[in-house]
Amino acid sequence: MILQNLGVAITGSGSALPANCLDNETLSKLVDTSDEWIASRTGIRQRRLANSSQSVSEIASIAAKDAIAMAGISPLDIDLIILATSTADDLFGSACQIQTQIGATNAVAFDLTAACSGFVFGLVTAAQFIRTGVYQNVVLIGGDILSRWVDWQDRSTCVLFGDGAGAVVIQATESDRLLGFEIRSDGTQNNCLNLSYSPESQPLTPGIEVGKGNFKPITMNGKEVYRFAVQRVPEVIDKALFRANITTEQVDWLILHQANQRILDAVAQRLNIPSHKVISNLASYGNTSAASIPIALDEAVRNGQIKTGDTIVASGFGAGLTWGAAIFKWGI
Ligand code: ACO
Repeated sequence: MILQNLGVAITGSGSALPANCLDNETLSKLVDTSDEWIASRTGIRQRRLANSSQSVSEIASIAAKDAIAMAGISPLDIDLIILATSTADDLFGSACQIQTQIGATNAVAFDLTAACSGFVFGLVTAAQFIRTGVYQNVVLIGGDILSRWVDWQDRSTCVLFGDGAGAVVIQATESDRLLGFEIRSDGTQNNCLNLSYSPESQPLTPGIEVGKGNFKPITMNGKEVYRFAVQRVPEVIDKALFRANITTEQVDWLILHQANQRILDAVAQRLNIPSHKVISNLASYGNTSAASIPIALDEAVRNGQIKTGDTIVASGFGAGLTWGAAIFKWGI
């Protein structure tokens, strides 16, 4: 038997951002900070925030529909939907709601949680289903509403995050456009970045008590996460480039998880990738977690920066700790 169409191509993208915009100036009236501090330490100028009635599945569905339209296929063609998120509307998962909202009745749908690495982990997961011949058309969405889970009194975290969703369509093709990848985890540093269950006892009967569902707001050791990112991200990109058998000179675009401009600059410098190849939109949106890479990708495709055949390095990093890189050529 001749196996055909086991290559992977990313053929469409979409994104969605909530309308509400909070700039640094306004934020500095809520918490003891300043536009100068936030902009100089992070590069962030403003962020989009979902209101209490918006859902991750709602913004994810808008992004997914746009990606499906760009790929020129029907929702009925979709075999698999992966929602990379850490902030699902429902702890049982939100991907099935997206399946209904976009009318992808033939698709199986599930959530994947790997924090800000979720998009890259999702891309690698999708590629396994395609390369084994199981599925032909996958929608991968990175979507997060972290504004619900930050302590708005904690200036060390609340200035960093924003909300949004980005999506791609990944399709089976003859010639493989996913050139290489590497994904990693290190649980020994798990306590650097958490959005964790807050134990609260609920006595049931004498001798038996259970916990009550509740989460603490995001806690982060910013300095450790910074150190981890500037060291580990270049390593993982180097490994993925090696697997792809290409050099940094052959890279057209570097799309890193949009956490901090200083991290983007340091990683690009270590890899010798010039700044005009580094895509950055964190000034407008802050850190949107799993959504940041696909939002940046979608914007760059739609504004004509990224063209068919361009070689892209995408790298995510974050809680877990998790990190990873994928090298792919845009389009078919
Ligand atoms: N406004 C004003 N001052 C502030 C603020 C603020 N928003 N936040 C902290 N400060 C103060 C601190 O209190 C400290 O004051 P002190 O010296 O009097 O104690 C001073 O500024 C310096 O604080 P640092 O934490 O040392 O600041 P740093 O330069 O390390 O920048 C930052 C902090 C921006 C968080 C940086 O460490 C960083 O970007 N780390 C990586 C974070 C990251 O990428 N996280 C996301 C991962 S993605 C995910 O998985 C969700």
